[in-house]
Amino acid sequence: MHRVLVAPSILAADFSRLAEEIHQVEAAGADWIHCDIMDGHFVDNISFGPDVVRLVRKETSLPLDVHLMIEHASHFVPRFVKAGANSITVHVEPEAKHDVVETLRQIRDAGCRAGLTLNPETPFDIIEPFLGKFDMLLVMTVHPGFGGQPFRSDQMEKVRRAAAWNKSREQKIDIEVDGGINPKTARISVENGADVLVAGTSIFHSINYAKVIRELRGE
Ligand code: DX5
Ligand code: ZN
Repeated sequence: MHRVLVAPSILAADFSRLAEEIHQVEAAGADWIHCDIMDGHFVDNISFGPDVVRLVRKETSLPLDVHLMIEHASHFVPRFVKAGANSITVHVEPEAKHDVVETLRQIRDAGCRAGLTLNPETPFDIIEPFLGKFDMLLVMTVHPGFGGQPFRSDQMEKVRRAAAWNKSREQKIDIEVDGGINPKTARISVENGADVLVAGTSIFHSINYAKVIRELRGE
């Protein structure tokens, strides 16, 4: 089995010393840095925008994994590309108010990896028509908007279905899970086929980032 990647979500970091937090998770073995972008419309919370992503870019050479929980993603994609994103993930729900195929193409054309995601309430079938047009599927294991919510194991069926795609296709997609990931739920996710683990609270609210990251990987 290939190595599981860990993507700490800086949403749970101490923003008064964000640079230091980034250096610490990098030193602790993080693979990517996950940036949660919330606009107060698509989700009921506001986080940060491209200017903060640009600051994060300056502090690390790790890939930046940008998760857009916003309306009209295509309008903002160029700004996140310019800020230094390596992968950009967009929501499939109609409330995200964009042409999903067009936005995925825009992300790839800009040289980034394109991710597609769906809320826990959204049925998996909605994703299928987009297969081949994205590089990573993000399975939300909480309803997006806030860190620190409990993991929803009912979403593992989506992870298994995506893993089944990968078995039958030459072009593999990464399967990422996001929300309520701790060493225990990480194990469940990986057993079901997840390759990338996003974790905010379990890493940044711990006293030993390296230990938690190792435990998330099952080491
Ligand atoms: C949820 C965000 C997640 C969140 C995860 O809206 O997309 O990335 O920060 O946080 P934890 O790990 O605390 O559930
Ligand atoms: Zn996220």
